[in-house]
Amino acid sequence: MGRVAANTTSLREVIPAGFYLGNIIPGAGHLAGGSLADERRGPGIVAKKGPIRKKDPNDDLFTSAALAKWLNEAPDDVKTAWDNGGLSAEQRQEIYDAVAPEAARLAEILVNDFNSITPENQGKWEYVAPERDSFYFDELDELVAFAEAHGQRVRGHALLWHNQNPDWLLEMFEPGAASDEELMEVLRTHIANVVGRYKGRIAQWDVANEIINDDGTWREGNPWIDRFGTGIVAEAFRLAHAADPQCELYLNDYNVESINPKSDAYYELCQQYLADGVPLHGFGIQGHIGLQLTFPEDLAENMRRFVDLGLNVELTEVDIRQLVSFRDEVEIPANMMELQGERFAALFKAALDTPGCTGLTIWGLSDNYSWIPSLFKGEGAPTLMDDDLQPKAAYFAVRDVLAGHEESAADR
Ligand code: XIL
Repeated sequence: MGRVAANTTSLREVIPAGFYLGNIIPGAGHLAGGSLADERRGPGIVAKKGPIRKKDPNDDLFTSAALAKWLNEAPDDVKTAWDNGGLSAEQRQEIYDAVAPEAARLAEILVNDFNSITPENQGKWEYVAPERDSFYFDELDELVAFAEAHGQRVRGHALLWHNQNPDWLLEMFEPGAASDEELMEVLRTHIANVVGRYKGRIAQWDVANEIINDDGTWREGNPWIDRFGTGIVAEAFRLAHAADPQCELYLNDYNVESINPKSDAYYELCQQYLADGVPLHGFGIQGHIGLQLTFPEDLAENMRRFVDLGLNVELTEVDIRQLVSFRDEVEIPANMMELQGERFAALFKAALDTPGCTGLTIWGLSDNYSWIPSLFKGEGAPTLMDDDLQPKAAYFAVRDVLAGHEESAADR
């Protein structure tokens, strides 16, 4: 028989000194019916974004997340009535009452188990600047305040990315729509405002996200790079550094867990930036992996080469997805859950055993809030908590690794 929840002590109390164990505060994103697949705007891909359901100013971030998920799963007429103000005060209150326990549990998980928080979507360009010449900081403000109230660090995510950009910005990149100088002014203003607003309060920013292809070439589809060339990335680092000289600035990507052409390209880019005096401080390895895929056995070795350059490394978006297409009929077999625990444990061991690896962030408070099912059809259950927001085998496996490492924390 597996362990029972009564054994639970929090993860937070066994996090080794100097290490950051993070998770996200869910942002509307896929919860409001959008998915990254719809949002990708590479050549030939038609954008079909889901709505950004802006949160009611009276709701806290957790209520807003629980509500977005509830509405996403509700019948279309209820969703429409909610959005159009077509529900009575009593009907709205009933929905709030229905989501309240879940919202409270999401907050509880984040506080009990984690000492670092990343905004899942709330820091992305289309959320922070949905309209031209105006900023919307309510959600990031609240997230940062929440973290501070609970003694948690914040990782900022993300400044330059090919996804989740507002329409007004993408329109500016259309031929003839704006001059180079106008666009540069937009970039300078964005980075100065977003990074500068949280100066000294957001410890790290992902300055550039997902800029390299799996084969090691530069990715197309990032409007900034397509227009200005690759040098714009170094410029973004300089702008972020000017806005907050203490903030640790990161490159961040997926499929860079192992030593491969993609991580090799980043390794070269990091060397070049450091030689050129670009204010780069860390390399973020997202860590979206799958139980059915080869495990990155050389993760620690890969991290070490970046650390040897003088950088910090973090695992920034860890989830371990598994096949769940049979899920409605059959429960995921216990041995798959155990295997997932072993894989999580191995990732944690690699992170904790690598001096210079300063943190590991899980991308999802629970399986049913994860972005995975909306992008990877037939896959899911990738986090430490199940759909009832209760700890899985993976949670206990991670706790054991953290607790076991505590004694040797002084070596870090
Ligand atoms: C995802 C969010 O989890 C979703 O809610 C959203 O709809 C799409 O983006 N790599 C990243 C993250 O750097 O920002 C992505 O987050 C997951 C992949």
